[in-house]
Amino acid sequence: MRKTVCKGIRICSLTFLTLIFATALPTAGGQTPTVKPTSVNKQTASEAKTDSKELDWWKNAVIYEVYPRSFQDTNGDGIGDLNGITQRLDYLQELGVDAIWLTPVFPSPHVDFGYDISDYKDIDPQYGTLADFDRLVAEAGKRHIRVLMDMVMNHTSEQHRWFLESRSSKNNPFRDWYMWHEGKGQTATDKGMPPNNWQSLFGHSAWEWDEKTRQYYYHKFYIQQPDLNWNNPKVHEAFKDIAAFWLKRGVGGFRFDAITTLFEDPSLADEGEVKDADGKVVINAYGDPQLDGSKTDNQPGLHPVMQEMRASTDKFSLPAFPGTRVLIGETYLHSIEDLNAMYGTPDTPEFHLPMDTQVALINKLDAPTFRTRLQDAETNLGNHVPLLLFDNHDNPRLDARYGDGVHDEDIQRVLSTILFATRGAALFYYGDEIGMKTTPPTRKEDVKDPIGITGWPKEKGRDGERTPMQWDASEKGGFTTGEPWLPLPPSVKQINVAAQKNDPNSLLSWYRGLIRLKKTVPALVNGENLMLDTENVKVLSWIRQEPGAAQVLVSVNFTAEPQTVNLANGGAGVEPRKLKTLLKSPGGADAATTGAIVLGPYGVYMGEVH
Ligand code: BGC
Repeated sequence: MRKTVCKGIRICSLTFLTLIFATALPTAGGQTPTVKPTSVNKQTASEAKTDSKELDWWKNAVIYEVYPRSFQDTNGDGIGDLNGITQRLDYLQELGVDAIWLTPVFPSPHVDFGYDISDYKDIDPQYGTLADFDRLVAEAGKRHIRVLMDMVMNHTSEQHRWFLESRSSKNNPFRDWYMWHEGKGQTATDKGMPPNNWQSLFGHSAWEWDEKTRQYYYHKFYIQQPDLNWNNPKVHEAFKDIAAFWLKRGVGGFRFDAITTLFEDPSLADEGEVKDADGKVVINAYGDPQLDGSKTDNQPGLHPVMQEMRASTDKFSLPAFPGTRVLIGETYLHSIEDLNAMYGTPDTPEFHLPMDTQVALINKLDAPTFRTRLQDAETNLGNHVPLLLFDNHDNPRLDARYGDGVHDEDIQRVLSTILFATRGAALFYYGDEIGMKTTPPTRKEDVKDPIGITGWPKEKGRDGERTPMQWDASEKGGFTTGEPWLPLPPSVKQINVAAQKNDPNSLLSWYRGLIRLKKTVPALVNGENLMLDTENVKVLSWIRQEPGAAQVLVSVNFTAEPQTVNLANGGAGVEPRKLKTLLKSPGGADAATTGAIVLGPYGVYMGEVH
């Protein structure tokens, strides 16, 4: 079953995404194009003294997203915990990851499963303690794995002390930490209407009436997640302090949640409604008109904030925890230009790695679109390091967006090859490496994610991509001894780590092999990425090249039919040469020379040019 969904934090930016197609850059036959310099980011004096390997670790990083609730439970309560992650570090080391990003583990009422934070400087008892966290960081460090945390700055929980204060009275010192406004037509006795038509990304009006102080507050997400007021300098100071708290504990950086929604247009003007080709207003899964996001998304204020966060984070290259603290952005954006802006400038850097959702949400196996977007990442990001990814805890897994139900595993080999064999950092989601399948609830009463209740049946929520990690074939998948918070999918019997770890043809072995190549083959470490055979609509081919190192050629078949490509035919950019195989699909792929690369259905071939 192939679904074309657009569920980036259900933002559905792609509904109104303007695609900017960059000019393709094929090379003339036989020419060796020059290698681009890697990202030039401003370094502080103390960084300059640090080992360059520690400084540059993020440029070719493999980052693994852990959804702690679903990874490994050690106390039998059916909810994953920090000790569970620590217990599985050897597995992650063997897989070859450089860093793990933990979705929020802070105290929370868990309306949005941790994205509603009530205390930014502690660990939720469900997940463990600060001591467990410190042990995780230390044990991960021994295995050269950095721990990255989620930084949720757009909103807090309604249970956070700041909001409790803020809503207590109009004169409270925390009142202007949040976004309070009078209603439209409000009088002493009538609350009027919400200030404008802005909507929550989780359905319906983004304004909630608060009877006690008789004003509305703004919430881009759930009602229980009031938005902070980033025009208040005290909010900036509070978050720099929070970042420092975790940096001192040795974290390797942060992933900035929902960062494009930090600011709103001060005019409070209504947003436009999105219309379809017939001029009819598009209605979203919650039954509301789809709005264009023009007043509440990607507003200019966020750049100075990120410059400030970057400057304060850069200070923390301390000897005890050497190396760059990386800033990753959850950057659902409309164009490659907007993405490029997220890196900042050499003098005022912002993110090291804003997520490239141009590639992440293509949502169909279309070779020309992949070629264009990958080419964009290589040439239109001002020499910065792209961060590719394909899924996360907010989007259906790969099978639901790219699979055909028959070749899902081979299709995943295609996607993972694109992820790990193109230049830049790669981010993937727990369970991808074994081919875990999206398993949404089948009954409304089983739904845990509140948007699945509001939007049922069109929007079933995000439970389907958050099911427990499948460690073995047992009923509870080796995840827990208790009652798992979400049921293990029936596929656990076939799809699990135990079944794959010693099988050289398994998907898990494929991921391990690809990651090893990314780390060890010189052209794959940082070599330039050049698309080849650029008119081919069925096979995507590219070459990685680094001066003084053998070129690496990669071809992936986007179809269910076998394909043969000739990449040495003059127009393709490589000379007729012998190939030394580095990796090929177990289902079929082979090549002896650059002139005849044979690929089975969704086959992958990667070889060194000699
Ligand atoms: C997170 C979601 C969360 C939302 C609100 C997103 O970007 O990835 O899981 O629901 O932010 O915090």
